[in-house]
Amino acid sequence: MGTTIIIAQQKGGAGKTTLAAHLAVLFASQGLSIAIMDIDPQKSLSAWHAARQQTLGDDGGITLRQVSGWRSGAEVKRLGRDFDLVLIDSPPHGDTDAKVAVRAADRVLMPIQPSPMDYWAARQTIELANREGKDFTLVLNRLPSRGRLADQIRAMITSDGLRVADSSLGNRQAFASSLLTGLGVTEAQPRGLAAQEIRALGKEIRPEGREA
Ligand SMILES: Nc1ncnc2c1ncn2[C@@H]1O[C@H](COP(=O)(O)OP(=O)(O)O)[C@@H](O)[C@H]1O
Ligand SMILES: [Mg+2]
Repeated sequence: MGTTIIIAQQKGGAGKTTLAAHLAVLFASQGLSIAIMDIDPQKSLSAWHAARQQTLGDDGGITLRQVSGWRSGAEVKRLGRDFDLVLIDSPPHGDTDAKVAVRAADRVLMPIQPSPMDYWAARQTIELANREGKDFTLVLNRLPSRGRLADQIRAMITSDGLRVADSSLGNRQAFASSLLTGLGVTEAQPRGLAAQEIRALGKEIRPEGREA
């Protein structure tokens, strides 16, 4: 039985698709069988996967499940049986599909940019995950290289009794540029800081019992 993780956050631009793609590549390279599911009508993760097939000539160890007209958690559960790890990229605005997927998934990963506005905007997603009794972790994304803001946001999150990953992602061009050609940053620039950050995060959230 594999693990299903939905990357959810009702705020657009938080880094959901970015996180889904880079983590999928990392975990595939560590030998996990990976499926990604794109339930965002904007289909940016699917476009990334198409670019990946162009670049590599195959899917590079990542299966994309198209789920048009998808309305139930059944597909999530089914994929969870077939793969070690299923990563679900979800749309903003907390729409119905996203809610259904949050209910069906084992865990929720929530990227947020380090600003009070983004944290407050994430409230509903946090409450949904809480209500459903989901194991969820916030991930700080696009951290500026200087300043105390990240620490302050981190303190705010933990004082609310919520879990935030120790690893965060900096604001780095490599996270965007590698996706252009369908790669993950651990493939495109494996020695760079961005790749180090993804590996550190991966170590923290890797499904238990499946050592790299
Ligand atoms: N850590 C990061 N460093 C630099 N750019 C980032 C980072 N995370 C996301 N981005 C950029 O921010 C924008 C929104 O990210 P995206 O993953 O599409 O968010 P979402 O899926 O939550 O809407 C994209 O242009 C993406 O390339
Ligand atoms: Mg997206």
